[in-house]
Amino acid sequence: MIEIEYQKSVVKLADNVYEPAEDSFLLADAVLQYAYDGMRIIEIGTGTGIVSAVIRANLNPEMIIATDINPYAARCAKGNGIDVIRTDLFKGIKRLPIFDLIIFNPPYLPTDDEKIEGWLNYAFDGGISGNDTVEDFLDNAGYYMSDDSSILMVTSSLADIKHIMNNMKDKDLCPEIVASTRYFFEEIVIIRATKKT
Ligand SMILES: C[S@@+](CC[C@H](N)C(=O)[O-])C[C@H]1O[C@@H](n2cnc3c(N)ncnc32)[C@H](O)[C@@H]1O
Repeated sequence: MIEIEYQKSVVKLADNVYEPAEDSFLLADAVLQYAYDGMRIIEIGTGTGIVSAVIRANLNPEMIIATDINPYAARCAKGNGIDVIRTDLFKGIKRLPIFDLIIFNPPYLPTDDEKIEGWLNYAFDGGISGNDTVEDFLDNAGYYMSDDSSILMVTSSLADIKHIMNNMKDKDLCPEIVASTRYFFEEIVIIRATKKT
């Protein structure tokens, strides 16, 4: 069984589940910069659970739960000690709880015909524009936020960063790029979005 160790956490990998990469680590580092003890946190699309595992290993949140649409990912994250619900974005989260922090490393690759076989496709396929899942996510995230909540989300120069930030502004959020790294042909960025006050 292959394991990955990062920031005092260890997760086991599994077939059909996104293997943590530069984007996962950049997000985990940003989360450690902006999250603090006592927060109520949700991670959408947890994969192996690496980002949530880093939070659990380094912080003491009041609550941390995760979702993933891929049943293999949900099983893998559960095996890595993450409290995970297998669902589409927020759909399995009932009673509209408020989270202080919402985290997402979404599928963001512009994809037309070149799909990957099986559930792993959900890790990459952002639709033709690259923004399909992100747009669904942003349509729903506000229901789970108070005025003090924030989002930390990954995107890339391969998607349309400007379009995503404008979409956030239309939803009364203030987006800011707080981290970035170059990785092969793309620049991976972390957007932090807070509520406009
Ligand atoms: C790029 S991977 C990131 C995985 C992990 N968070 C990480 O950083 O290593 C994207 C993850 O989002 C999940 N995902 C894609 N669409 C989703 C949706 N509509 N609802 C929940 N999870 C989704 C995928 O199954 C995949 O595990």
